[in-house]
Amino acid sequence: MANIFKSLMDSFKLGLFKKKDDSVVGIDIGSSSIKAVQIRRDKGQAILETYGELALGPYKNVEIGRSAILTPEKLVEALNDLFREANITTKRAAIAIPFKSSLISLIELPSLDRSKVDEMIPIEARKYIPVPMSEVLLDWSIIPRKERELGDEPGTFEEPAYTKKKVETVEVLVVAIHKNILEDYKVVVDKMGLSVGPFEIETFSAIRSVFGHDLSATAIIDIGSGSTRVIMVDYGIARVAHTINKGSQDITIALSKSLGMDFSKAEEVKRSVGAVGKVEGGDLLNIINPTVEFILFEASRIILGYQKKYARSIGKVILIGGGSMLRGMVDIAAKNLELEVKLGDPFKRVEAPAFLDPVLKEAGPSFAVAIGVALRDL
Ligand SMILES: Nc1ncnc2c1ncn2[C@@H]1O[C@H](COP(=O)(O)OP(=O)(O)OP(=O)(O)O)[C@@H](O)[C@H]1O
Ligand SMILES: [Mg+2]
Repeated sequence: MANIFKSLMDSFKLGLFKKKDDSVVGIDIGSSSIKAVQIRRDKGQAILETYGELALGPYKNVEIGRSAILTPEKLVEALNDLFREANITTKRAAIAIPFKSSLISLIELPSLDRSKVDEMIPIEARKYIPVPMSEVLLDWSIIPRKERELGDEPGTFEEPAYTKKKVETVEVLVVAIHKNILEDYKVVVDKMGLSVGPFEIETFSAIRSVFGHDLSATAIIDIGSGSTRVIMVDYGIARVAHTINKGSQDITIALSKSLGMDFSKAEEVKRSVGAVGKVEGGDLLNIINPTVEFILFEASRIILGYQKKYARSIGKVILIGGGSMLRGMVDIAAKNLELEVKLGDPFKRVEAPAFLDPVLKEAGPSFAVAIGVALRDL
């Protein structure tokens, strides 16, 4: 009897009888700020419990809005502050890996059975991954046939030149994550006592939260602080992702130089006036334009390249990331890209009190990754 009692006690200690934590916090560690969103599942619905964002600059003695790469120890400090301020209560976490710490390639292989593909990928991947294989963690998934059905008419989606001979191929999406970041995140997770599932690259998290069941080709543009990512999603699957080495921080730097104000003031002006107004000393649009147009020009090249390679036309563009919240950005993007452009609205995927709707819609583009990674875990 005593023994049974003891094992029961052990079970309690192990948490076996504890109600499983129904809430999960999605964490996006961006280069300028961390975002966290806590959601809970209730009767098949994802319910928003709380969310918050914290600028990382101050943890590295630089201004709010600037990119700041923190040590794991500083990151723990920042996360603890954010958890406290946003009232994040769960220890169950889902964390996104920054795109810059990963590599995503679409590899085309002759059609083989699954086990052969699994054998070939680690060998094939060496051609695409410019760092030693010992430094990365590799994962891959075969793109299902139905999502890449060959059109009969030439020139459709899956009709690259060499399949015209009707050689059967499979496409495999290969992802590699630098082990360094996994080690850093492990320190963070251990120090904070979090329980985490598998990590996910931010790209896939964002797609989950802003992309519906649309099959048409769509570009998601994530305008961050130091860089911008362009992700081509087709048949609901990420197929191509590129980085542009400019982001919203470059706009702040341009404003600060042109208007002769410090970074923090320029950041304030950028966020309040955006690309639609004037301030003393200059027309903001003229100062902002070179950076914005550079980003959009590069994005356009990626989009056109995709269209050409796969003979698919791009239906629309979804903007996410803090940089997309620049006032006037959607119109400028639509004009430059000559495509329909919308802001991502990831909070649409979660239930929240109606009075919060306008606030959530406005903040949404920033939280696409955090919500997406949390939804995966639910
Ligand atoms: N309302 C706004 N108007 C204009 N810019 C804004 C606004 N809000 C935030 N930003 C800008 O967005 C940028 C931060 O975006 P975001 O939080 O998506 O980047 P990040 O996730 O930290 O960076 P990355 O994804 O590149 O690692 C900053 O440069 C910030 O100035
Ligand atoms: Mg980001």
